[in-house]
Formats: sequence, structure tokens, C-alpha cells
Amino acid sequence: MANRRSIIAGNWKMNKTGAEARALAEAFVKEVGAFSGCDIVLCPPFTALEAVRAAIAGAKNIALGAQNVHFEASGAYTGEISVGMLKDAGCAYVIIGHSERRQYFAECDSLVNKKAKAALAGGLKPIVCVGETLDVRDAGGTEKLVRAQIAGGLAGLTAEQMASVVVAYEPVWAIGTGRTATPAQAQEVHGWIRDELKKLFGPAVAGATRIQYGGSVKASNTAELCGQPDIDGALVGGASLEAKGFADIVRAGAKG
Ligand code: 13P
Repeated sequence: MANRRSIIAGNWKMNKTGAEARALAEAFVKEVGAFSGCDIVLCPPFTALEAVRAAIAGAKNIALGAQNVHFEASGAYTGEISVGMLKDAGCAYVIIGHSERRQYFAECDSLVNKKAKAALAGGLKPIVCVGETLDVRDAGGTEKLVRAQIAGGLAGLTAEQMASVVVAYEPVWAIGTGRTATPAQAQEVHGWIRDELKKLFGPAVAGATRIQYGGSVKASNTAELCGQPDIDGALVGGASLEAKGFADIVRAGAKG
């Protein structure tokens, strides 16, 4: 099996003030600040990036990530944040194309693609999210949709750039619902994603790209999900808002 290092990311979504974020990050660092079994990313809201940066400064294995970015470098884009601004704030990663962005802010694969290219050009590692709604799954359309999201979102990237890309498979019906995909369901889709990566970029890139699972991940289901051959970590929402529980997920999700 390919030797992919697990990556566990916490997506705090629209939660935590600066002070709350600092307290959560500090408590988390106490738990796993010295843990080296996997890569860890914390993705607080923009307004708490600075607080979390300070809290994780001494923890080599914990990186900072943002939840969204604009593809232009600067200019008249009210309310938007650029790659350069995120780099300046200490980010190494950025989540792109989360299903909530797709659902509430009409993000499509071509926009995801522009953002991924901008992130990579500016030295940020994109975590590119894909996943189907329940309607699509029930209609048997998961494979087609997810392959299209991968092909569209990652179009035109080079093999070299792909070394900095993380993919996250997040079935929309499993997000915030407590209804996790079974390890077999998740593995099946991760297999399709890796196969699509192989078609697009060849076997070496496909074998090296890390694919996270997200959707109602908690400490009790992490090990089994992350034990699947094509699952290389987790993108965690609700359960990343509590330090001890998220630390348990990190420890459970690290695979050697
Ligand atoms: P939950 O873990 O709350 O289901 O959210 C998953 C998610 O959307 C992470 O990006």
C-alpha cells in the first residue's frame, strides 16, 4: 500500500470568537501538541486565524488553514480574502469547494478550479472537497458526480502541483447529521476518486494523493474509517469543536 501520511483537519465552520478559538486551540495543543503520528490542520474562521496561529506556534505538527479563499490577488471584491492575505495570516492550507459553499454560495467546479489554481500559485495547499447529496446517491449518481467534481475541480493542475493537493470526500447527507457513511460506502467512493486521479494524472500521483473522509466523523468511528485502504484522514466539523474529543480523533486517525 502506498505510504501516505494521514491528515486530520478540523473545520470549525462559523463558530468561535477570537478568544474562544484561542482557548480551544490551546486546549488542543495540550492534548496533541507533541503528537507526530499524522498531519493536523485547524481551520478556524478568518477572524480567529491570528488567535489560533499564536496558540499553535510551538506545535510543529499543527498547521493553520482557512475555510475559503478568493481567486483574485487583490482588488474590488468586497468581503473576500486573497491567498496572499491567508499566507500572511499564517495559513498553510485552505478548504476549497466545501459542500456548504456549493450549496449556499453557488460554488461550482470551475470556481473551485480557479481557487485551487490560485491557492497553489500562491503557496497554499488546497483541501478540495467533493461529495454527493442524498438525492444523487439514491438515484445511483454518486460515482458520475464525484468523478466530474474531481475532473472539473482539478482540471489543468500539474503532477507537481498535485503533490500539494488534499482531496476530501464529504457526502452531503453525512455532514452534521450524525449519519456517517459506512466504512465500505466511504471506501467505495474513495476508490473511484483515486481511479479518477489515475486517469487524470497517472498512477504515481493517484497513489500519493491524500483523500480525507468527512461527515459525522467522531472518535468512535475514526479508526475504522481511516483504516480503509483509500482513506487517508478526516475532515471533521462538529467534533473538532471540543479539544479532547478532537484529540482522540487525531490519535485514532493516525495510521502508520
Ligand atoms: P460534521 O463533522 O459536523 O459532520 O461536518 C463535516 C464537515 O463538513 C467538515 O468539513
